[in-house]
Amino acid sequence: LNIAVIGVPSDFGQNRRGVDMGPSALRYAGAIERLENLGHHVEDLGDLHIDKKFHNQIHPTLKNVDGVVDISKRLAGEVNAIVKKGMFPVVLGGDHSIAIGTLAGLAENYENLGVIWYDAHADMNTEETSPSGNIHGMPLAVAMGYGAKVLTAIQGDFPKVKPENVVLIGARSIDEGEKQFIREHGIQVYTMHDVDRLGMTAVMQEAIIHLEGQHVDGVHLSLDLDGIDPLYTPGVGTPVPGGLSYRESHLAMEMLQDSNLITSLELVEVNPILDERNRTAEVAVTLLGSLMGEQLV
Ligand code: ARG
Ligand code: MN
Ligand code: MN
Ligand code: MN
Repeated sequence: LNIAVIGVPSDFGQNRRGVDMGPSALRYAGAIERLENLGHHVEDLGDLHIDKKFHNQIHPTLKNVDGVVDISKRLAGEVNAIVKKGMFPVVLGGDHSIAIGTLAGLAENYENLGVIWYDAHADMNTEETSPSGNIHGMPLAVAMGYGAKVLTAIQGDFPKVKPENVVLIGARSIDEGEKQFIREHGIQVYTMHDVDRLGMTAVMQEAIIHLEGQHVDGVHLSLDLDGIDPLYTPGVGTPVPGGLSYRESHLAMEMLQDSNLITSLELVEVNPILDERNRTAEVAVTLLGSLMGEQLV
């Protein structure tokens, strides 16, 4: 594959500093070399510039919204250009609010995009339902066209993703408003309960069959490292115990590789300040390897 890597050192979507160092931590853990060793051609576009002037902005229900809007617009432009060049985008976060920009950029190229949201959280809050005002808890709602207009209007005021094309995997911390959203829109969710009962093999088989049945023209994998149990990935801002194991996560990535469905990827919420010797970025990079074609034999 021709892969373009872009770093987005944004921490505007939540209130713990350090996640802006995610792109460095992921590069330091060997993300680029890992892809090159698989025979891919990799262009590292470097990191987007973050304008620190947005940092002191006070907005209780949409924290740092001007910063999120600024970075989302520019990221959307970059992702759009990458796909137009026929390249596979790999976006290195940054907190999960950057998915607003990634999905807006992808939407210019896919009519019927599928999304796999690998995460402890649903990230489907709106300004009204969010308990925190942190925009990293909102990007999936925004991509479906719900929430503050300044966010949903990025790259055009239309839904970037259809609710029936979204699959959540690993969810275990869902707010009341999000539960209602999930029920109302009939979103496909595989919680930890489902993974425990069915096993990851069946969960991934079902997820893949579901997306194929929707006749998606591409699938974006949004990989929040807090989806994995904090035993393996402690360097995240909002850890939730009882998560997906290292092996389950590799299996999921390998099954996605075999499915040939994935057309873009983002790795988010790696916070090296909260980590133990860059373990979290290292796990992220091994998952990147499995997703992009590493074989055990
Ligand atoms: N549901 C909580 C909130 O909306 C936590 C969201 C965490 N999101 C994330 N991408 N880590 O504030
Ligand atoms: Mn998330
Ligand atoms: Mn999360
Ligand atoms: Mn394989």
